[in-house]
Amino acid sequence: MQQVALVTGASSGVGEALAPLLASQGYRVYGMSRRSVDLPGVTSLPADVTDRSALDSAIAQLLQEAGRLDIVMHCAGIGGAGPVEQMPTERARAIMETNYWGSWNLCQATLPHLRKSPRGRLLMVSSIAGFMGIPFRSMYSASKAALQAMTDSLRLELRGSNLQATCVCPGDIATNIIASQYRQPYDEIDPLYRPRYQKADEGMASNVGHGMTAQQVAESMISIMDKESLKPYYVIGEPIQKASTIARRLLPGRTWEWVLNKYYS
Ligand SMILES: NC(=O)c1ccc[n+]([C@@H]2O[C@H](COP(=O)([O-])OP(=O)(O)OC[C@H]3O[C@@H](n4cnc5c(N)ncnc54)[C@H](OP(=O)(O)O)[C@@H]3O)[C@@H](O)[C@H]2O)c1
Repeated sequence: MQQVALVTGASSGVGEALAPLLASQGYRVYGMSRRSVDLPGVTSLPADVTDRSALDSAIAQLLQEAGRLDIVMHCAGIGGAGPVEQMPTERARAIMETNYWGSWNLCQATLPHLRKSPRGRLLMVSSIAGFMGIPFRSMYSASKAALQAMTDSLRLELRGSNLQATCVCPGDIATNIIASQYRQPYDEIDPLYRPRYQKADEGMASNVGHGMTAQQVAESMISIMDKESLKPYYVIGEPIQKASTIARRLLPGRTWEWVLNKYYS
């Protein structure tokens, strides 16, 4: 039986690399994003994950055509930058709406079908930022931390089923994520924050520009998906980025804050 996979975020970056790669390995692949996609072996399934009824209709279409759903690779997500004090609330809310509530919607729309698969897999793309509060990217960190907590709960709830879920937490990946996100203009920022905001924001853009390729992350996700038993988290990135997630857990709070301050100033 041909396995059926849904890849969200298929119009750009990780999802755009992952969807045709899965198709080349024999999966029947549906690519979801707000824009439609034209990728080899991939059926375009446009939907906004924040719009529950559009999402439900898209999943109904997939099931009508393919009859089953075995794998969901959830790559859709957005970033955004600004200080807590000043970032426009609607911009911050949009990040939570997509990264957290969009993931919630996707779970509700797909879990009943994924659970029918003899070997269901749900890979949520979080971020190393989900383990820590990155300065001036608070809502992004918060949205990914919330996604991780939800997935922790889901894993426990799914005990006894054939569906396994995990969070994939990459470091920097050279994609369009910086170009497509809201970054509050420097001249709107209070002088208390402005120099550190500018440095952190430019540093983030440069790190992402020099990050892993989307193809590398896509290949890692496929090897995670193929594992017999999934761990709760897979951190993908430079050794220093992997070490940071361990240091965050092990170091006393103030020591960790000192490390992050050093890094961002
Ligand atoms: N790039 C990095 O450095 C990095 C690091 C760690 C984690 N991540 C995470 O990796 C994932 C993929 O990011 P990327 O770097 O590949 O970013 P990207 O190139 O900007 O791609 C994001 C994808 O998400 C889709 N998307 C955004 N909002 C959506 C919505 N409401 N409904 C449906 N699709 C939506 C976009 O398509 P449309 O605009 O067509 O809807 C696009 O296909 C994200 O979850 C991101 O947070 C990225």
